[in-house]
Amino acid sequence: MNLTTERLLLRPFRADDGEALHAYLSHPDAVRYEPYGPHTRQESARAAADRAHDERFVAVCLADGTLVGNLYVAPEGPPQWRTWTVGYVMNPGHWGHGYATEAVRALLTELFVVRGAHRVVARCDPRNTASWRLLVRVGMRREAHVLQGASFTTAPDGTPVWHDTYQYAVLASEWGGEALEPGRMDG
Ligand SMILES: CC(C)(COP(=O)(O)OP(=O)(O)OC[C@H]1O[C@@H](n2cnc3c(N)ncnc32)[C@H](O)[C@@H]1OP(=O)(O)O)[C@@H](O)C(=O)NCCC(=O)NCCS
Repeated sequence: MNLTTERLLLRPFRADDGEALHAYLSHPDAVRYEPYGPHTRQESARAAADRAHDERFVAVCLADGTLVGNLYVAPEGPPQWRTWTVGYVMNPGHWGHGYATEAVRALLTELFVVRGAHRVVARCDPRNTASWRLLVRVGMRREAHVLQGASFTTAPDGTPVWHDTYQYAVLASEWGGEALEPGRMDG
């Protein structure tokens, strides 16, 4: 996927993106709610090489080419559902500028206008306020609070540590690229 927005370039990953990827995948704040821990330099290099062949990952770059994060976009369910799930991880050094919002808006436009999506879904940990605030900003609606539906780690005694999940979605018939009213922020 290659897209240009007001301030960003969205492009496929390249194998030589390892250092830029490491700048945030090694950061505990960036991976706190991800199903993996902070990456070593070697793991980041491997991730860049893998992502260069995986169109689900999209590099988010500033106009000068600096890679500041990534989107994730994958089909959900059979093709006839025309449903995609989306995600994002941005370099903490570039939070607070609206880059993730701008990138996700462009992705939603691509999915609804170009690929003919019927529905787009996103999920996040309820404690990840920055994430679900972003989803509200881009016009997605909270449709579920799943209790203890996921586990990425285990306690010392081996029992799963369960996490809740918020599910957000937007239908083609709802989508206008507009944020919901602030009063609907908490669902
Ligand atoms: C989720 C994540 C991408 C959000 O990053 P972010 O920088 O807060 O999001 P945006 O890029 O949309 O920026 C929004 C912030 O920039 C501010 N901002 C500044 N200029 C802006 C603009 N032009 N447009 C929109 N927001 C702007 C907003 O006010 C907002 O700040 P606030 O939360 O203090 O009100 C980031 O926290 C992250 O990468 N987290 C780690 C990975 C992760 O958890 N991913 C989600 C897993 S489900």
